[in-house]
Amino acid sequence: MYDLIVPLSGDPGVGNAIASLFGSRVVKVYTKDHPDGELYLRLGESVKGEDILIVQSMYPSQDRKFIETLLAIDAAKRGGASEIDVLITYLAYARQDKVFLEGEPVSVNTILKSIIYAGANRIYVVEPHSDIPLNTFRENLVAIDGVTPLARRFVGEKDLVVFSPDIGGIDRAARLSRALGVEFHYIDKKRDRFTGEVSSTLREDIDLSGRTAVIVDDIISTGGTIAKAIELLIRRGSSKIYVACVHGIFVKGSVERILGAGAHRIVCGKTTSHMVDHVEYIDLHEHIAEEISRTKR
Ligand code: R5P
Repeated sequence: MYDLIVPLSGDPGVGNAIASLFGSRVVKVYTKDHPDGELYLRLGESVKGEDILIVQSMYPSQDRKFIETLLAIDAAKRGGASEIDVLITYLAYARQDKVFLEGEPVSVNTILKSIIYAGANRIYVVEPHSDIPLNTFRENLVAIDGVTPLARRFVGEKDLVVFSPDIGGIDRAARLSRALGVEFHYIDKKRDRFTGEVSSTLREDIDLSGRTAVIVDDIISTGGTIAKAIELLIRRGSSKIYVACVHGIFVKGSVERILGAGAHRIVCGKTTSHMVDHVEYIDLHEHIAEEISRTKR
């Protein structure tokens, strides 16, 4: 599949795991900080003529991981690699995918453009926040579904209903519900762009008495979105709440906030090396390897 796999510092172990599945060699990368704080990077072996996959996750230290990715691509390009693909298990800046307020950038475009300009042929992104960059970077970007593999943690549970905490995540709820063979709905979430305040509402005819709700989102950061959704679903009668997400950013206090709101379980994909207590992590490498094998040019 790939001759060489190059795991960078943010990789949560996916690079080594898929190298074993593909039978690829793993390239060691040497990095150090210069005294002024700049990053130095060197690939540990020749990549000349090789088909390579660079693996990175951009959390924590998003900006640093971004720069490291660009430097690794440049080093591989200068080293004569024949094909340079990049797997990003968590893509930072993905939520700023349009101009919401005048004067803002489209941050995700800046990140992806830079990676392509540095020399990447293909970028695989696990569960991108939205389809917007997929349309913009059609030629270079491939999305890997990170939601369907989460379903295995809920198989066998009775009377489940899946919820998206906002309309933007409806496709995620649809994928999880399809994998579980249950119904899904979405919560109407509105965030004030200036104050950040979130308000949530749910269709009046949805009655959850005695049922278990699974709320699925791409990212959990402060836990505010999920906590609001939990409060709403409990008011509608749900007796048990499970939470699932692909990317667990989990800023300080977020897990307590979610559990405090009434969640019984939090299930999360292992897409970053940031792991916290009370969360059940799921390895995604087999699924990622299958998806890359299926879609590789
Ligand atoms: C937003 O559209 C995302 O899909 C997540 O719902 C959001 O990033 C979660 O953030 P927080 O946990 O801070 O509410």
